[in-house]
Amino acid sequence: MTGRHPLLLDLAGRRVVVVGGGPVAARRTSRLVEDGADVLVVAPAICEDLVELLDRVTWRQRDYLATDLDGAWLVHTATGDRSVDDAVAADAEAAHLWCVRADDAAASTAWTPAVARSGDVTVAIGAGGDPRRATALRDAIALLLDTGGLPLRRHRPGTGSVVLVGGGPGDPGLITTRGRRALAEADVVVVDRLAPRALLAELDPSVEVIEAGKSPHAHTLTQAEINAVLVERAQAGHRVVRLKGGDPFVLGRGGEEVLACIAAGVPVEVVPGVTSALAVPAAAGIPVTHRGLARQLTILSAHDTAPDWATLARLEGTLVLLMGVAQLGSHTRELLAHGKDPGTPVAIIERGTLPTQRTTVGTLADIDALARERGVGNPAVVVVGDVAALADVLGPTV
Ligand SMILES: C[S@@+](CC[C@H](N)C(=O)[O-])C[C@H]1O[C@@H](n2cnc3c(N)ncnc32)[C@H](O)[C@@H]1O
Repeated sequence: MTGRHPLLLDLAGRRVVVVGGGPVAARRTSRLVEDGADVLVVAPAICEDLVELLDRVTWRQRDYLATDLDGAWLVHTATGDRSVDDAVAADAEAAHLWCVRADDAAASTAWTPAVARSGDVTVAIGAGGDPRRATALRDAIALLLDTGGLPLRRHRPGTGSVVLVGGGPGDPGLITTRGRRALAEADVVVVDRLAPRALLAELDPSVEVIEAGKSPHAHTLTQAEINAVLVERAQAGHRVVRLKGGDPFVLGRGGEEVLACIAAGVPVEVVPGVTSALAVPAAAGIPVTHRGLARQLTILSAHDTAPDWATLARLEGTLVLLMGVAQLGSHTRELLAHGKDPGTPVAIIERGTLPTQRTTVGTLADIDALARERGVGNPAVVVVGDVAALADVLGPTV
């Protein structure tokens, strides 16, 4: 098709006439209403879908008259009656109005493309007059847009913002599609050591990557410095992604970062992630709850805290310790001293979801010695409870 000129129209408040009351007219009307048009529907009867739109459109319940086009900017005709569509098209032509005909693309002066919309990006597709082909292309492009598979970075100044993205525990495949999209839009990425760092390789070289660090004993930036850099880069007009391991709100100090943005008036959003507290045991074949074994789960930061060991030792179900390697010995001793059964299964999963994942299974009585023997190190998740023994049954076989 030659000579067809794509345009994006601002229809807000402008009169668009839709002649016809069937499902095609309803689909067109719905989209026009979404785009803010002042829609006039002309039809003696209308289908259910159009009835639902009646509070947002004007309906003339009668046959079409040429005067219906008065004041219009655009016309759609979808009556199913060729003679009526011909008359509408002829009147539109005489009035110098663009007319989209549902019955005959070749006789139309305007065509509605298949449209992919994702955030502030709109892609309109015409595919040689083949609507199914256009729809298939539209769906493929929409998927790429939604999942960050296309270069979405802005190249003109805009409002800065911060998105906290939960990257999952290590395997880059565990980030959400929304997280990927945020990364594709990012100008600046502030990244933790335990975030899925393989994703950094996909960033455009001009994206600024700031190391936040956050290993148990080596903080590259303090939390206050991280908060400040998020706010400062966003206030300079950048789209900032704070890429974190696991979920931003599970022992990740994400709440503090959101508060800092709110206090500074910076738009902020949180994209939840797959937390290591659940995913790392799962990757080792340990369901944190399991019928007959555990119906309750406690997640504990085992780093720099003095928990109530008496309560923890009494709790039913599964206890998951994050940041628990350094003090494993003292923690197991505390649980035993407070009456926890020495035979309680314990599993330690290092580098969960990564190719070097390793699981060590023992009991509360012997896990500390086993961990020393095997040189267990960070990052690791410690699972205490009957479900830990399932690692031997349900764990990876390759
Ligand atoms: C500061 S916490 C952050 C937790 C994170 N927000 C989450 O939801 O997973 C860091 C701890 O998460 C655990 N962790 C994170 N990634 C891990 C991985 N790939 N394998 C084992 N443990 C991991 C370790 O216990 C580590 O010390």
